[in-house]
Amino acid sequence: MKFILPFSGRSHQYCEEEISAVATAMRDADPLTQGKYRTEFERKFCDYNGVEFAYTTCNATASLEMAAQLCQFSHGDDIIIPSHTFTASAYPFLKKGARPIWADIDLTTRVITAESIRKCLTARSKAIVVVHLYGFIADMPAIMELAREHGLIVIEDAAQAIGTEIEGRKAGAFGDFGVFSFHSHKNITTLGEGGMLVVKNPEYAGIVPMLRHNGHCAFDYPREDYWIPAMGNVDFPILNGQDLWPNNYCLGEIECALGIKLLDRIDSINDKKRERAMWFIDALADFPELEFHRVDTRRHNYHLLPARMTNGKRDAFIRKMALQKGVQCVVQYYPLNRYDMYQKAGFGAADCPNADLFFDNMISFPFHHWMSEADLEYMLEASRSVLTQLRLQA
Ligand SMILES: Cc1ncc(COP(=O)(O)O)c(C=O)c1O
Repeated sequence: MKFILPFSGRSHQYCEEEISAVATAMRDADPLTQGKYRTEFERKFCDYNGVEFAYTTCNATASLEMAAQLCQFSHGDDIIIPSHTFTASAYPFLKKGARPIWADIDLTTRVITAESIRKCLTARSKAIVVVHLYGFIADMPAIMELAREHGLIVIEDAAQAIGTEIEGRKAGAFGDFGVFSFHSHKNITTLGEGGMLVVKNPEYAGIVPMLRHNGHCAFDYPREDYWIPAMGNVDFPILNGQDLWPNNYCLGEIECALGIKLLDRIDSINDKKRERAMWFIDALADFPELEFHRVDTRRHNYHLLPARMTNGKRDAFIRKMALQKGVQCVVQYYPLNRYDMYQKAGFGAADCPNADLFFDNMISFPFHHWMSEADLEYMLEASRSVLTQLRLQA
């Protein structure tokens, strides 16, 4: 089906300066991975996010995989994870032996809260994954207080929430780990794939480079010939006396060169998305059956623009928007406990009524940065028309 306004897989266009930064790196980067652009991207990201240690990765899932390794789960440890999130927020931890306890979201903010986390605590709780879904940063000060009270490791999945802040601190700067994505659909993308892992503990910081890059390290004794016994050493990164198997989760130099430039633009991209979200939400205020989450501060970057239909007509709305108006609205974040994979693994039970209610009635509008003012106006008029038709059908 051809849409006038598709739910595109691409979030934004590149400006000439970004394209030329890529072309320059294509000409001069040597090597094409693990070089000066990576170092600069990581340093600039630390400055931007107000953190000490940040490591580029090939995607956010790789960042989550390393965070999961560094948690060092024992069989039977529990991890609290929202059921309403993207699958990669969860499975890296389950692969490492943790058992998920699915936490419910708040119906208005669509993220987990200190209260919903508290309900999931067990004697075996070891960690929490806090997902700043749709680009809204959860109440991290309250969640960190709860985590400290119970000695829990906190992983912030800020894949969708770069640049958001609460009480003057940015998403990913609160927890033991902060995870970011530069995937094709995110507010900034490093050519389709890319990620960052922020760690708080200096001991983790010492381990991540080896964990990320095949266990490569220097020989710890002086050598007369740089090629004897080998060009470089390979060893286990060690944490708490335990050897960790390494990975190759590196991001290439071209992507890093682009990431450096994109960090100059992230605030303006986020601000523009938020401004447009306010305009769209306010223009539909006379249709309260479509319930948005309105936040006019940097706490939200409106990576996505979801709404909940409160009159049970979600599917009729999406169908008319698609067939009559050519606007491709979608439904996102099937509660993870409903997926075959999690059910087969024995993790199909959840007590998350808000997540279920939200998912079963949610609509996600196309909301890409590349959309023109005319596109947005068209989508607004289409929405008003379909909502009016649905009222008449009541
Ligand atoms: C909340 C969340 N976590 C993790 C990821 C994984 O990101 P990546 O595609 O960079 O691995 C995504 C990507 O869609 C996401 O939305």
